Amino acid sequence: MPVYDPAMEDGFTTRAIRASTRVPRVDQPPSSVPIYQAATFASADADELGAVTTGRQPGYVYARLGNPTVDALAEAFAALHGAEAGFAAATGMAAIHLAVASQVAAGDRIVATRALYGTTRSLFSTVLARAGVATAFVDATDSAAVEAALAAAPTRILYLETISNPTLVVPDLAELAALAHRHGATLVVDNTFASPYLCRPLELGADLVVESATKYIAGHSDVLAGAVAGSRPLIDAIRALHVDTGGTLAPFSAFLVLRGIPTLALRMERHQATASVLADLLEGRPGVHRVWYPPRPSHPQHAIAARQLGGGGGMLAFELDGGAAAGRAFIDALRIPERTASLGSIHTIVVHPPSTTHRQLAPDQLAEAGIAPGLLRVSVGLEDAADLAADFERALGAADPTTAAADSPGARPAIT
Ligand SMILES: Cc1ncc(COP(=O)(O)O)c(C=O)c1O
Repeated sequence: MPVYDPAMEDGFTTRAIRASTRVPRVDQPPSSVPIYQAATFASADADELGAVTTGRQPGYVYARLGNPTVDALAEAFAALHGAEAGFAAATGMAAIHLAVASQVAAGDRIVATRALYGTTRSLFSTVLARAGVATAFVDATDSAAVEAALAAAPTRILYLETISNPTLVVPDLAELAALAHRHGATLVVDNTFASPYLCRPLELGADLVVESATKYIAGHSDVLAGAVAGSRPLIDAIRALHVDTGGTLAPFSAFLVLRGIPTLALRMERHQATASVLADLLEGRPGVHRVWYPPRPSHPQHAIAARQLGGGGGMLAFELDGGAAAGRAFIDALRIPERTASLGSIHTIVVHPPSTTHRQLAPDQLAEAGIAPGLLRVSVGLEDAADLAADFERALGAADPTTAAADSPGARPAIT
């Protein structure tokens, strides 16, 4: 390969460009994946450029077609899920869009759980519907209803969440994978709430697992990213669609997610230990109508959760008797949690789903998804459990329905 050495006879700017973009040779591999902050990669000659660009030879040309740091994340994600291949995208939604859109065309049909992240629901019921792809929403804990929906018309995809957002529904993935396959559908599972530490849906029969790596995998509320893993042909279709649609993950973002992966297990252990303390504190308390935490006997799918999840996880939800006004009072009284709308972070985050994560849903859709006006979702962070428990105690006092005026059902408070 002809190596260009900046020569003194070249003009100043030519030398400046060449001198500042020579890549150092490193014979001892670094202990972390380098950030390949480059949009373009140079080939040795025209033949190589053609071969790499058309995929006849492995390599890099242009970062939308591939970037080594982003590929390192894709491979790490695939390895965590025991998958043949993986792909990393700009956000969780980009990953979900790629996972679904790479398998459907106008006239196709999807069956999806109705306990679904609000933006995913919106993707199905607006964006994909406009493109001629219909979605039937079902109660994924009712296998007869899922089977009836799959049998009603040819279906390309059954779409589920391992632990659904925000009511922590835990569908039986192995049973539903078998149902999907019997009806010729692939199973796509959003595993964001669980993370690969708690659940690996491909081991239970899913065809693709998708996650917002923004959440537990990265873990620090400082990056947006998404990832998909599954068989090589399904991931190849995703890679091809991504070339045409973009949604490319930045190399620095990929680095930040890779940086989170080694401590995922430690963080999940701490998240779930504290979540269990808070669930204990909330359940049965006056003013708390109901608590959802998968390992607790009061959780409707706790038996499925016990065999499907490697722990309770860091997410819990609860409904206050005082409705939306009590929820607002609770959030405002908290000292430690951040008033924001995400999950899976070092920070504890308490959200009111009807006004934040599920704002796109109409009141009847909220009711159908089991989202009551007083529902609060907690993503338990890594702060000291005793501090959070004291904070929640104080906030429960502030949310006492005898002091906080209850809103009418369906009222939409602005909490964020
Ligand atoms: C379950 C679930 N899936 C996907 C997403 C989308 O992720 P992102 O914000 O990285 O696009 C979210 C975001 O909150 C989520 O909660």
